[in-house]
Amino acid sequence: MTDDLTEIPLHGGRVTPGVVRVGNTVRRPVTANSDFVRRLLTHLTGKGFEGSPEFLGADERGRDVFAYIDGDVPAELGYYDEASLRAAASLIRQFHDMSAELVDSHAAASGVEIVCHNDLSPCNFVFRAGTPVAIIDFDAAAPGSRARDLGYAAWLWLDLGSPDISALDQRQRLVTFLEAYGAPSPDPVLEAMLERQVMLAEQGRNIGNDSMAEWAVRCNDWTRQNLQVLRGA
Ligand SMILES: Nc1ncnc2c1ncn2[C@@H]1O[C@H](COP(=O)(O)OP(=O)(O)O)[C@@H](O)[C@H]1O
Ligand SMILES: [Mg+2]
Repeated sequence: MTDDLTEIPLHGGRVTPGVVRVGNTVRRPVTANSDFVRRLLTHLTGKGFEGSPEFLGADERGRDVFAYIDGDVPAELGYYDEASLRAAASLIRQFHDMSAELVDSHAAASGVEIVCHNDLSPCNFVFRAGTPVAIIDFDAAAPGSRARDLGYAAWLWLDLGSPDISALDQRQRLVTFLEAYGAPSPDPVLEAMLERQVMLAEQGRNIGNDSMAEWAVRCNDWTRQNLQVLRGA
């Protein structure tokens, strides 16, 4: 099966049209950010990181070719226990640390520390036996701060704003997530989270995705209302 050249559409992400699986590879249309993504993934593979797809070159149709990573990618957000939260956070930490070499040392002055993935939702992780083992979908990657990526990741991995999980439980889950990453303080992460929630609401409105916009606003309200508890203050 893996030798044949049948193109299997990969709809999981619902964002990027034209993503297909061909044998043990994934083909993606080239984007304005492709050059940077190729460099990033080649760098990560060169450092021995196994938590991101290897960039394999271009195919005969000019598409980017990446290694297919076996496992399951969730189509929706869900509930992740503390072991999964720890595994995700430590994977993100490894990726961030390895990406730091790609960032211009002069950029540090403007708060740029690492390369942000910019969409670290559980829906962009490959799971095996319930554990996140790899990150995919680096299309939006760009230099940025650790807190920026962590704010968004913590929001979606914890499902912060869900009426089913109390603020006190979320505080504990946030501590677990940030400890596994090795983040010194929740404050910049929460600040970045609030910004990303506002941005996603705006983006939802701009593209006519009202339900996404409304969800982001609800999450932003919940986060602001429970900020003191989340900060442990
Ligand atoms: N390297 C990969 N290994 C395994 N599955 C992948 C890989 N890249 C993409 N996929 C699958 O294709 C789906 C869509 O790809 P993704 O890069 O996440 O695009 P989108 O921008 O649409 O979210 C993913 O949800 C996942 O199921
Ligand atoms: Mg995706």
